[in-house]
Amino acid sequence: MLAEIEKIALRAARTAGRIHLKRLRRVNVTSKTSSIDLVTEADRESEAAIIQLLTRAYPTHAIVAEEGGGIVHESEHRWIVDPLDGTTNFAHGYPQFCTSIAYERRGQIQVGVVYDALKKECFVARRGKGARLNGRPIHVSDTPALEFALLGTGFPYDRRQRRRYYLSFWEAFMMRVQGVRRTGSAALDLAYVACGRLDGFWEFGLKSWDIAAGALIVEEAGGRVTNMDASPLALDGGRIVASNGRLHDQIVATIAETELEARRRQAEIE
Ligand code: IPD
Ligand code: CA
Ligand code: CA
Repeated sequence: MLAEIEKIALRAARTAGRIHLKRLRRVNVTSKTSSIDLVTEADRESEAAIIQLLTRAYPTHAIVAEEGGGIVHESEHRWIVDPLDGTTNFAHGYPQFCTSIAYERRGQIQVGVVYDALKKECFVARRGKGARLNGRPIHVSDTPALEFALLGTGFPYDRRQRRRYYLSFWEAFMMRVQGVRRTGSAALDLAYVACGRLDGFWEFGLKSWDIAAGALIVEEAGGRVTNMDASPLALDGGRIVASNGRLHDQIVATIAETELEARRRQAEIE
């Protein structure tokens, strides 16, 4: 059954990808919750296409999707969909965006697909079966210490209000690692941890659709994904750390050491 689910998830992700490429040169942008939280026709169109495909294949399954087109059912089967992750990039023609589709059964993610249509990179994982990039097995990096690491992160849409808090963590990592990247697609950041392009990742305020697929892909590639206090990942918890495993405790410790100072700095401007 999971092989069939994976096939449908891949088909849905490729369909969304075609819409992204078609729309890329004619982007029509509007704001959602604020002037920096954007939505485009590509978000809505690709979500509608994914939902149509999933409901045709599995009419009784529940679907959670970012742009609100999901289907709320009592079901042990749930799809978690970000039709376009990296909308700000997409709106500016910056080539870093993707579709993220996860399938969850009884609260546990079983299949994850992250598809970057522009680079034609398809990251897939099935629980217990490993992770692949375009069909080839992938593995996390073996970087042993933060001083050799390249990390990814991002900032949530309340970043202007909470800037001092978020920037404190950026500063703490900047002083400890070889580089920090903020590329604007959390799902791709996780996929990059899975294939060793990044050694780790942290971000506040992410939603289930940003991370459900990517988290499984990291785990199946041999990495670790938890909340920032190292407890088991809560998809809606908004405090994710992903890593190659070897760096996990160092990332968690850096966040714990920085927390108080981050709150103090933020309190100064509130
Ligand atoms: C966003 C991206 C970004 C992250 C934001 C997300 P969207 O998703 O993943 O990297 O920093 O927090 O909301 O809005 O482009 O789907
Ligand atoms: Ca997203
Ligand atoms: Ca999105």
